[in-house]
Amino acid sequence: MMLRSAILAASRNDRIKRLVANAPVSRHVVARYVAGETTDDAVRVTQVLVDRGLTVSLDHLGEDTTDLAHAETITKAYLTLLDRLAGAGLTAGAEVSVKLSAVGQALPGDGERVALEHAREICEAADRAGTAVTLDMEDHTTTDSTLSILTELRRDFPRTGAVVQSYLRRTEGDCRDLAHAGSRVRLCKGAYDEPESVAYQDALDVDKSYVRCLNVLMAGDGYPMVATHDPRLIAIADERARWYGRERGTYEYQMLYGLRPAEQDRLVAAGETVRVYVPYGVEWYGYLMRRLAERPANVTFFLRSLVSTK
Ligand code: FDA
Repeated sequence: MMLRSAILAASRNDRIKRLVANAPVSRHVVARYVAGETTDDAVRVTQVLVDRGLTVSLDHLGEDTTDLAHAETITKAYLTLLDRLAGAGLTAGAEVSVKLSAVGQALPGDGERVALEHAREICEAADRAGTAVTLDMEDHTTTDSTLSILTELRRDFPRTGAVVQSYLRRTEGDCRDLAHAGSRVRLCKGAYDEPESVAYQDALDVDKSYVRCLNVLMAGDGYPMVATHDPRLIAIADERARWYGRERGTYEYQMLYGLRPAEQDRLVAAGETVRVYVPYGVEWYGYLMRRLAERPANVTFFLRSLVSTK
């Protein structure tokens, strides 16, 4: 737990970020979790996954953007990506995931308005391309703002997906609000370092909350997106889907690129819809640190790679 907190604190420390980002981190460490740096890499990896029977959500890496020009650059990157996916005939199986802090939410003053405008541009482009957007969820200070932007976007783009995090005490209630017809909701455990006042600290409590949220979403009329690598929760989701009489394709499983690929294939072979979350771009630092915090066993492997270019 302490190691997890330390890694997550480092993920937001600028000095450590500069140190790690400039270290000769061997390519294979980053490549294990990230599709590549360019739009070409993102499209190429999407094609490979779609050919394996998987669906995809692409994330242009970036977060906590502190200047408007950069927020615009990230927005444009999404527009280019959507254009390329449509050109390659991949939008039936590929959507995009957007972090609102990457497109302006963290800007001082009118950040929320800027993020809404940028997210709207991306939703319009996704709609034209025949696909949709899911709004990633970041730390708890952004939850209300993100859900209010989601409500705005859904007026014009009802397929816009939400994300809820079971480690937050509020989330079961949010699930009730979101479990209505047409509502796409990704349920994950949550990846940020959150205080006890708002979040369960014990892994078992997070899992129990996950199951309660899963019940609400599976019982409701929306489209649950079960985002976890946890074998126990996957088995429970499968059992709850049957219990609530859900046909395959009225919910989906989601996993991160590079994690449990054999399990992804097993679920596809069983007739399930499985979406792989595929990050790409140069701003991999925060994303990689959150993945390491989830599996501290990888930290030694990572630290070794910092001093080796092999
Ligand atoms: P956890 O990390 O607790 O792992 C549970 C168990 O799963 C392990 O004990 C092990 O048995 C098994 N397992 C996990 N990784 C494995 C591996 N590599 N190989 C073998 N077994 C493994 N978070 C957030 O805050 N906001 C967001 O918007 C998103 N978005 C998102 C999208 C998608 C598609 C996913 C899958 C996840 C997210 N997350 C997220 C991240 C999420 O909150 C969470 O941090 C990670 O998914 C890790 O939690 P797990 O549920 O996988 O379980």
